[in-house]
Amino acid sequence: MEKTICITGGAGFIGSHVVREFVKKYPHYRIINIDALTYAGNLENLRDIEQEPNYSFVKADITDAAHILSIFQEYQPDGVIHLAAESHVDRSITNPTAFVMTNVIGTVNLLNAAKEIWKDNYEGKRFHHVSTDEVFGALGDTGLFTEDTKYDPHSPYSASKASSDHFVRAYHDTYGLPIVLTNCSNNYGPNHFPEKLIPLCIHNILNEKPLPIYGDGKYTRDWLFVIDHAKAIDLVYHQGKNGDSYNVGGFNEWQNIDLVKELCRQMDEKLGREEGTSAKLIAFVKDRPGHDLRYAIDARKINQELGYQPSVTFEQGLSITIDWFLNNEEWLNNVTSGDYQGYYEKQYKG
Ligand code: NAD
Ligand code: DAU
Repeated sequence: MEKTICITGGAGFIGSHVVREFVKKYPHYRIINIDALTYAGNLENLRDIEQEPNYSFVKADITDAAHILSIFQEYQPDGVIHLAAESHVDRSITNPTAFVMTNVIGTVNLLNAAKEIWKDNYEGKRFHHVSTDEVFGALGDTGLFTEDTKYDPHSPYSASKASSDHFVRAYHDTYGLPIVLTNCSNNYGPNHFPEKLIPLCIHNILNEKPLPIYGDGKYTRDWLFVIDHAKAIDLVYHQGKNGDSYNVGGFNEWQNIDLVKELCRQMDEKLGREEGTSAKLIAFVKDRPGHDLRYAIDARKINQELGYQPSVTFEQGLSITIDWFLNNEEWLNNVTSGDYQGYYEKQYKG
């Protein structure tokens, strides 16, 4: 094999698409998926590629520094693409410490292990940290986040991701570790865990349950199809400038209420329900504390420097996503049984 790349969090939503992209596109790379398989990690997401000769899975928790170092010593990766994280803002409000452990300590453990095995010989090496636009805080009605926007995180989740971004840059500035960062907007697509807005609403529409909209529903997010995020990571991993960060987004802003109405429209059509049926399920509920009003990415740098462009429109991406959920009901039933029920009742009680 020409190169070995460790991808952390490869059993999660975005990670599984990144693993698939790399395993298929680069048969001459050895891809090692390192994942602790938390509630959000699911090897079902990778069934179609798990037999590929260039793919291996290692179960490991990135908070376990010794285990991570031993894996790196064994596999000697040339590259690390780091996606493992606690990723859900609402869970960070009820349990911030878990976010510090995985997102901050776990990231530092990976940086230490990479630095240790690369031993200051950084030729052909790269640590790619996958991060979020939430580190930039909240926008008002206008403006976009650029790579130079000052960090201003508000939730425990975004504070932990901001901290991890700072550590990655600090290892570059202090030890010369070769790094790149991507800060992406909201993803959606197949395999999305139904705690996040879009898959939660798809699940609830299917089950004719209320669609909980926080506050007045005017909060705005910039949505990108997950496979387009995976393609951006591929591009930046291979062609991004050492030490740089790249914002990734779809120039695709939606207020939550309009997005959910569009989802209802497409689902009614696909399910053969009368128009307006699913929208009747919309229910305005208690707001998220510290809810950021608006995120929107200025994605000109990745476009102009690396030629990046999303491959699908939002309408196409949403349609592919809904079809995937309709064709994978068993996946949805599996991930919404067990612990999910308890989480859901606690989060949406009242
Ligand atoms: P996810 O919650 O779906 O998956 C996270 C994965 O990390 C899971 O497979 C889980 O098992 C694994 N994991 C969690 N803790 C771990 C630990 N301690 N050790 C090893 N593995 C662990 O998350 P996602 O939505 O796929 O996000 C992936 C990354 O992309 C995260 O870093 C997130 O901050 C970032 N990101 C997400 C979005 C989004 O819209 N979902 C947007 C921008 C950036
Ligand atoms: O912007 C990138 C971020 O996008 C990622 O870094 C995070 O990992 C990812 O979870 C996502 O964060 P959000 O908080 O924006 O995603 P979520 O799907 O939880 O919420 C999207 C919007 O919908 C937000 O304004 C909150 C609102 N919402 C969410 C849920 C779960 C509701 O109104 N009702 C809900 O039930």
